[in-house]
Amino acid sequence: MSHHYLQFDRVGYCYPGGREALHGVSLRITHGEKVALVGANGTGKSTLLLLAAGLLLPTEGEVSVGGIGLTPRTLPIVRQTVGLVFQNPDHQLFMPTVEEDVAFGPANMGLTPEEIEARVTAALESVGALHLRKESPCRLSGGQKRSAAIATVLAMEPSVLVLDEPTSDLDPRARWQTLELLKRFSHTMLVATHDMEMARELCPRMIVLRDGEIAADGAAETLFRDTDLLDDCGLEPPCRMR
Ligand SMILES: Nc1ncnc2c1ncn2[C@@H]1O[C@H](COP(=O)(O)OP(=O)(O)O)[C@@H](O)[C@H]1O
Ligand SMILES: [Mg+2]
Repeated sequence: MSHHYLQFDRVGYCYPGGREALHGVSLRITHGEKVALVGANGTGKSTLLLLAAGLLLPTEGEVSVGGIGLTPRTLPIVRQTVGLVFQNPDHQLFMPTVEEDVAFGPANMGLTPEEIEARVTAALESVGALHLRKESPCRLSGGQKRSAAIATVLAMEPSVLVLDEPTSDLDPRARWQTLELLKRFSHTMLVATHDMEMARELCPRMIVLRDGEIAADGAAETLFRDTDLLDDCGLEPPCRMR
């Protein structure tokens, strides 16, 4: 049995020279769970994801992944365990071709050319983008870019997938395709989103942030019926529940 899970114990984060973006955040996500992270703009969603992926170190409290506490020494292993898909795919795609972008992570892990090729093929196949491997990322549509960005992360074979607003800026068809893609994954997932339909379809559990703190954590179906909570946190229920 795998023990990979994400744990935050009273985590706070202050940007250098800034105000506190997260305060007293405690949560635990167990293997195989899919969790939506929702909240108005500026409530700390992206900061929480950066901490989960080991791209920031907490200024208070402790983050651990698979039982390993996040410290400067453990950052490399945590970064391999947790794969972060950035909100803007242009931050993840910078090579001349899609396949080079997807190969970049595995190559840095010191894998052999055969292993790298196997990873690239598997990752692109799993997002339905194998036919795009020779394309230049800058020529892809919004939805194709999103798929390619997800493939760059999958090629690292992370145990936990963390996605920052994966459907923002997508047209309805690309949004639907991304949602269907994510629904097929069996990964442990933490998804920051404003897309309440997606939260509802993809994630049985939802964590609501308000001013850098957890306002609620529970079954999405239940929280979506709590109109006082949603009002208070500046959220709208999914269309079909209005
Ligand atoms: N690089 C940064 N430097 C200083 N403050 C930041 C930085 N990034 C985010 N913040 C601040 O931290 C808070 C939380 O931001 P963020 O995590 O991006 O929220 P969300 O993703 O929910 O919109 C906001 O007040 C934001 O202005
Ligand atoms: Mg954000």
